[in-house]
Amino acid sequence: MNFMLFLTLMLFALLAPFAGYAGESTVNIIYTGSINGELEPCGCSPKTDFGGLARLSGHLSALRDELDPYILIDAGNFTAKDTPQGRLKAEAVLKSYNIMKYDAVAFVSNEKGFSPEFLVPLIKDQAVPAVSDTPPFKQSILIDRKGFKVNISVNPDGYIEEGINVLLTGRPVSEAMTIKGWDVIITSSGDILEEPLKQDRTVILSGYPRGKKTGMITLAVTGEGSTGNFTHKWLSLGSDVEEDAKVRAVITEYDSKVAGLLKGPEKPAAGDTYMGTAGCSACHQTYEESWKKTRHATAFDSLVNAGKSNDPECIVCHSVGFGEKGGFFTLETTPELANVQCEECHGLDREHVEDFSRPMRPVTEKVCLKCHTGENSPDFDFPVYLKKILH
Ligand code: HEC
Ligand code: HEC
Ligand code: HEC
Ligand code: HEC
Repeated sequence: MNFMLFLTLMLFALLAPFAGYAGESTVNIIYTGSINGELEPCGCSPKTDFGGLARLSGHLSALRDELDPYILIDAGNFTAKDTPQGRLKAEAVLKSYNIMKYDAVAFVSNEKGFSPEFLVPLIKDQAVPAVSDTPPFKQSILIDRKGFKVNISVNPDGYIEEGINVLLTGRPVSEAMTIKGWDVIITSSGDILEEPLKQDRTVILSGYPRGKKTGMITLAVTGEGSTGNFTHKWLSLGSDVEEDAKVRAVITEYDSKVAGLLKGPEKPAAGDTYMGTAGCSACHQTYEESWKKTRHATAFDSLVNAGKSNDPECIVCHSVGFGEKGGFFTLETTPELANVQCEECHGLDREHVEDFSRPMRPVTEKVCLKCHTGENSPDFDFPVYLKKILH
């Protein structure tokens, strides 16, 4: 094809959805859902290093003019579980949403799993506009964004005649497809929809689990409301996106509060059960030498460098015996049990020391998969990885 003709066609293809007819304009809806308390990716692998609230906020600030007018929505399940760490996450998510000025946040199943005495005042303190079928929140809110009227609701019967109707729901996509009367339905069920679904005149979207991607739908609108035409894209938040310092500060504050969780009185007695590398190497020194050349031997440094050395959710895979009697607790109390040590793979068998003829458990692929999950180690391939750690 003639190159100029090609260029012209490309340009036309790019502009076409926005060219519009007389009286038509566009509005962007940027959406998250099913974040599940994931403030940022763990950084275990570049392949899964996407998402994170500090990046999202940075991205929105950088592109504000380009994205305007936009509405920022969370379809719910932004919290994880009501545990001490889950509460700190809920607090950090809501503080970040306040900074980003979310227009609406749905309060659905995960949120309902929290004690209302904790979560409801927090939402009010952070002035995050919540919609829920549970009081004290309203079921719907009406937003006027530069003349665009947008009705955001959790009530499947709550659509209005004029304006853009957006339903937020925790229900799965299969159920969302049976709900009528809406321009847009956004679920936070955890279902993955790589592309929007169109059912009659309704566009169905699903918040990408754990915030790995943030969605944006651009709706064509006339005076009466949505025309049904739209384009959709994912904002890809990789490590190249500049973070917002204010949200980063919220996460740093969260990290230090999480560290406080490990200062409880329940510290298990160290050395009771796990003997650690030093104990094994009394008889297996050559194995210790070769283990030291593997990345398992420095796994805890990765947490220190990431500022997460006191985060139980990270420690569990970067140390030995965390959460079990006599296992790793903190770098201060049990420094000898940091890193992925012998007993993570060979198992815990103190009697082996008295009776060498007792075989240790076989090190099968299953042992590795406790830590080498699809999310944390997407390239994991047992024979390939095994070769790298043979000692
Ligand atoms: C389910 C187990 C698991 C959890 C939980 C986990 N990690 Fe990891 N992490 C791994 C594995 C496995 C690797 C190695 C991945 C690979 O190279 O295939 C890794 C690698 C890393 C690396 C990369 C090191 C490098 O030099 O390339 C960093 C950084 C890291 N993790 C940080 C964290 C942080 C921070 C957390 C908590 C937010 C965390 N990890 C939670 C298993 C885990
Ligand atoms: C990441 C998992 C892992 C870690 C950590 C690990 N090993 Fe191993 N180890 C293996 C695997 C896999 C083999 C090979 C076993 C096989 O072929 O059945 C092995 C083999 C051995 C053997 C020889 C077994 C035989 O049949 O001859 C000894 C001894 C041993 N490891 C000791 C240690 C000691 C001591 C440490 C800590 C310094 C350690 N290992 C850390 C996975 C691990
Ligand atoms: C007091 C000495 C001693 C200590 C301590 C010791 N081992 Fe052994 N281990 C032996 C001897 C001896 C054998 C059998 C001879 C051989 O294969 O080297 C053996 C065999 C093994 C084997 C291979 C045989 C099998 O049945 O699987 C593994 C794996 C192993 N030890 C792991 C460990 C680990 C992990 C630790 C630390 C938790 C440890 N050992 C602590 C002396 C010891
Ligand atoms: C207790 C959790 C845990 C277990 C069990 C575990 N690993 Fe790992 N592994 C890690 C972590 C964490 C890292 C990343 C270390 C770092 O921070 O650099 C890692 C890194 C590795 C790497 C380096 C990856 C690279 O690209 O260089 C290999 C290879 C590896 N593991 C193989 C294995 C194999 C094979 C097994 C099972 C026999 C196993 N691991 C069991 C946690 C674990």
